[in-house]
Amino acid sequence: MRGTRIVMTVCNIVAVALLSTAGWAAPEADPLKPRVPEAERADARKVKSPLTVTPEIIAKGKELYEGKGTCVNCHGLTGEGNGPGGMLLSPGPRNFTNCKFHKKRNDGELHWIIKNGSPGTGMPALIKGGVITEEEAWMTIAYERTFCKDTE
Ligand code: HEC
Repeated sequence: MRGTRIVMTVCNIVAVALLSTAGWAAPEADPLKPRVPEAERADARKVKSPLTVTPEIIAKGKELYEGKGTCVNCHGLTGEGNGPGGMLLSPGPRNFTNCKFHKKRNDGELHWIIKNGSPGTGMPALIKGGVITEEEAWMTIAYERTFCKDTE
């Protein structure tokens, strides 16, 4: 009896360990540190969105984020960086619900990253790669900003 109990306890420990590994995702690297390389940052920050953000633009951004743009695969439906593809990446994808991150970055910097990718990470060069256009990237940025619920 005692032996059976010990075996069951060991099985439970193994099961819990396996389950937590399955849900394991690498944390994102410091989201407040700049990502655009220093030599290009000042220019990137000057680039402004040609779009006026309206509910229609945000809706289009959501459609792109969840569809053609493939963002959802890594950044997740709720924007927390927990998409199925993101689970495999180290560092993990950006968590867009973090308002501190949004305050730190202007639109031009986000656009640069969507265009060129984030060097040395799994964030792909989606504009250069022909996945989305410059204009579509601005729409996804408008949508990404809505994941921050801070109303200050
Ligand atoms: C293959 C996975 C993957 C896909 C697809 C993906 N991303 Fe990312 N993304 C990442 C990872 C990983 C990071 C974190 C990179 C880092 O830490 O520098 C990231 C970071 C970002 C950042 C933060 C850049 C910064 O300044 O910190 C933005 C913005 C972004 N992604 C937008 C998008 C958008 C928009 C799409 C879809 C059009 C998209 N991503 C699709 C993996 C992905």
